Amino acid sequence: MKAIVATDQAAGMAGLNLVDRREPQAAINDVVVQVHASGFTGDELTWPATWTDRAGRDRTPSIPGHELAGVVTALGYGTTGLSIGQRVFGLTDWYRDGTLAEYVAVEARNLAPLPGDVDFMHGAALVMSGLTAWQGLFEHGRLQAGQAILVHGAAGVVGSMATQLAREVGAYVIGTGRADARHAALDFGAQEFIDLDNDILEDVCKVDLVFDVIGSDIAKRSANLIRAGGTLVTITGPIEAPPSAGRTIDFVVEPDRAQLSQLVQRLRDGRLRTNIGSVSTLDDAIRSLNRTERVKGKTIFRVRA
Ligand SMILES: NC(=O)c1ccc[n+]([C@@H]2O[C@H](COP(=O)([O-])OP(=O)(O)OC[C@H]3O[C@@H](n4cnc5c(N)ncnc54)[C@H](OP(=O)(O)O)[C@@H]3O)[C@@H](O)[C@H]2O)c1
Repeated sequence: MKAIVATDQAAGMAGLNLVDRREPQAAINDVVVQVHASGFTGDELTWPATWTDRAGRDRTPSIPGHELAGVVTALGYGTTGLSIGQRVFGLTDWYRDGTLAEYVAVEARNLAPLPGDVDFMHGAALVMSGLTAWQGLFEHGRLQAGQAILVHGAAGVVGSMATQLAREVGAYVIGTGRADARHAALDFGAQEFIDLDNDILEDVCKVDLVFDVIGSDIAKRSANLIRAGGTLVTITGPIEAPPSAGRTIDFVVEPDRAQLSQLVQRLRDGRLRTNIGSVSTLDDAIRSLNRTERVKGKTIFRVRA
C-alpha cells in the first residue's frame, strides 16, 4: 500500500516520504480500515508518540495521521460490533501506525459507524476536534447552560468546535485569537472576541471555564480569569501557574464511540460544522505538508477518490 512515513525527527516535515508498505494485519479486537480520508494535526511530528512506542523504543519509520474515515475490510480475532464493508470514522492509537496510508489497523472500539449521508472528508475532520472539544467542555470542564467560557483560538480547529458546542448548551462564549480570526470566531458562534495581539486579556470578565489550545504565557495569564470554583482546561500540557480560585486540567483526547455518534448527529442536523483548511491527496501529501505558507483549519488527505 502507499503510505507516508516519518523517519527523521530532526528533519520535521522535510523528512516525510511517500513509500510502499505492507498492508497492516488486524490483531485481536482490531479492524483493518481502507482509509478514504485522513486527518493530520500540524504539530504531530513534535509528539513523542510519533517516534517511540509505549516502552520508549524507536518505532520509525512511523505513519502519522490519527483521524480517519473509511470502510472496514478485515476483522481481527474476536472483534465484534463492526462488520466488513461498514463505513466508520474515529481516532487511531498514538503509538501505532496512523492514517496517512491506504489501510490502517485500529482497535474497533476506537471507531463509530459513519452514516451514509456524511462524506468521508467531513467524518475525518470531525474526529479529533470534536472529541477534544466535547471532553474538554463536558467531561473535564463540566460546562453548563448560563455559564461563561473563554475559548482560546476560537477560529482554530479545536477552538471552533468548542465554540459551537459551548453555544449549543447555552453558555456565553468569549473567543480569542489573532486579529484576523475575529470574523471566523464570531461566525462559529462566539459572542465576544478578544484579539490577543491588541486587546488586554486581563480585561475580560471572570469566567467559569477557560478552554485553552495555545498554552505558554496565554494559558498562564488565563488562570486569573477563572471564577471561584471554575476550571482551566488545556490541551497543550501542564500549566505552570494554576488558578488560585479553581482547578486546572490538562488532558489528552481519548477515543469514544458514543461521543463520535453524538458529534456526527450534530454534523448531520446542522448544529456543527467542521473547519477544514486544506484537502489534498496522498500522492501530493509531501508537497502539501511542506508548503511554506500557513494554512488555517484542519489538514485533510483524500486517500481514496
Ligand atoms: N491534548 C489533546 O488531546 C489535543 C487534541 C487536539 C489538539 N491538541 C493540540 O492543541 C493545539 C491546537 O490544535 P488545533 O488543531 O486546534 O490547532 P489550530 O487550528 O492551529 O488552532 C490554534 C488556534 O489558536 C490560534 N493561536 C495560536 N497561537 C496564538 C497566539 N499566540 N495568539 C493568538 N492566537 C493564537 C491559532 O491562530 P493561527 O492559525 O493564526 O496561528 C489558531 O486559530 C495543537 O498544539 C494540538 O497539537 C491537543
